Amino acid sequence: METTEFLKQTGLFSQCSDKDLEGVVATAKHRSFDAGATMVREGDPGARGFYLILSGAAEVRKGGEPVATFGPGDFFGEMALLLDDTPRTADVVATEPTTTLVMTQWDFKALLTSHPEVAASIMLVLAERLRNTDQALTD
Ligand code: CMP
Repeated sequence: METTEFLKQTGLFSQCSDKDLEGVVATAKHRSFDAGATMVREGDPGARGFYLILSGAAEVRKGGEPVATFGPGDFFGEMALLLDDTPRTADVVATEPTTTLVMTQWDFKALLTSHPEVAASIMLVLAERLRNTDQALTD
């Protein structure tokens, strides 16, 4: 499937026009990872990229402990981009061969400014992740 077609089906980009999505794909890079590869490492300098999973699966690990799992259409790497000068908050490890679309901090922030609906979708997902993490802490 074309990347723009795939993006259109994700919660994050479903309301973007084809033209907008072509713009996103034109400036983003595809990156592939083997199973077991650390895609983002906890503590690393952050401002390097926002990742959207196109295929495969990943696990978020904090201090080595799993805190979340991601699949196609899920994103990660937003925290260190939104919080300037903050290192990566967790490891994100590919648990299968995984392909991603990676946006620079510059393009990511520009997208949030030009598309408030994308920013709103991200806020929703972040609230869900916070709720899940809170729930795991009280279990
Ligand atoms: P960032 O800190 O840039 O890099 C690690 C990423 O893991 C982080 O952005 C989030 O995308 C993700 N992440 C960190 N903590 C959690 C959590 N508790 N639940 C889900 N995802 C997380």
